[in-house]
Amino acid sequence: MLLNSEPGAVGLTRGLRILVTGGAGYIGSVVVEELLACGYDVFVYDNLSQGHRESVPSGVEFIQAELLDRQALEGALTNHRINAVIHMAANALVGESCRNPAKYYTNNLVTSLNLLEAMRTTGVSRLVLSSTCAVYGESQKPIIDESEPTRPANPYGETKLAFERACHWYQEAYGLAYVSLRYFNAAGATERCGEHHDPETHLIPNILQAAARQRSHVEIFGNDYPTPDGTCVRDYIHVSDLAQAHVLALDRTQHSSGIYNLGCGGGFSVLEVVEAARKVTGLEIPVRIGPRRPGDPAVLVASSEKIKRELGWTPRKAGLPAIISSAWEWLQRRTVSARAK
Ligand SMILES: NC(=O)c1ccc[n+]([C@@H]2O[C@H](COP(=O)([O-])OP(=O)(O)OC[C@H]3O[C@@H](n4cnc5c(N)ncnc54)[C@H](O)[C@@H]3O)[C@@H](O)[C@H]2O)c1
Repeated sequence: MLLNSEPGAVGLTRGLRILVTGGAGYIGSVVVEELLACGYDVFVYDNLSQGHRESVPSGVEFIQAELLDRQALEGALTNHRINAVIHMAANALVGESCRNPAKYYTNNLVTSLNLLEAMRTTGVSRLVLSSTCAVYGESQKPIIDESEPTRPANPYGETKLAFERACHWYQEAYGLAYVSLRYFNAAGATERCGEHHDPETHLIPNILQAAARQRSHVEIFGNDYPTPDGTCVRDYIHVSDLAQAHVLALDRTQHSSGIYNLGCGGGFSVLEVVEAARKVTGLEIPVRIGPRRPGDPAVLVASSEKIKRELGWTPRKAGLPAIISSAWEWLQRRTVSARAK
């Protein structure tokens, strides 16, 4: 039996009280925007290890706390009468996870299990979690659907998969309703929120920083992969489309659980992304070819048919030019406002 769940049709969940862990981070801040636009009451829980206080909109209650802190978690869930959690807080660097798996097992798995236990003891039974295409590892198929076997090629993917499995068993034993969203590569920006990590390891912000002369060049990690131009192929999804999926997933946790891929179903090589960014910006973007990074599969492209079919998800900003333009506009706005300070 589900605790704390309301019967009713999809869409009747507006006005629920949602705790977003990692809501001060890149994707989290856009998910918060989307939830507010849909009429949810939103509470952000983040330790600001990577997130930014200014990414949390005014009017949203911000709890600066650590996920390992059970007391803080249980306090947040009960004091704010939380109905559902969107769990996005994590570390997400593939290469770092290979060099330092202990960090990933602690910050992605131990923390998440602590959250599950806090939810169980406080009777919060609805969860949407950020998972990743890294759970698949090197796929045998050109386009990956959810039936593809999970064989993570790095500790980052392993820790995300382990948490998905824990959610499955919490569902069986305790009635947790969860939706796991396996994102492919999030990119792009909204008017207010964009990608801003330190260090920044993601391709599109790095390319745009090189275009803006905020870094000397873009390093390409390997050009000897079995792909048409030798560089890795990835599927890029606009962060707003990703955020929209979280609202649909929340609705789904009203009556059932599920696991869904989220991408656009099209693969672009690193060199193709650089070329697209040259067209969008009209600027030179110097590149240098470096060695492969450990843990990087050659190709990761999603089939998102299941989430379209079952939850009615429809990407509104698909395509590299739209994604890159939004990120470029955001970077320029941010640069101007930083200069004005
Ligand atoms: N960015 C992508 O392309 C991508 C792809 C697949 C999956 N994901 C997943 O999406 C989620 C969000 O990714 P992002 O790119 O926005 O990352 P991000 O680093 O921008 O955001 C993560 C947030 O979590 C917070 N956090 C981390 N550890 C915490 C802890 N122990 N306690 C409290 N807060 C903590 C950080 O301060 C940060 O604000 C992550 O779970 C990531 O694994 C991201």
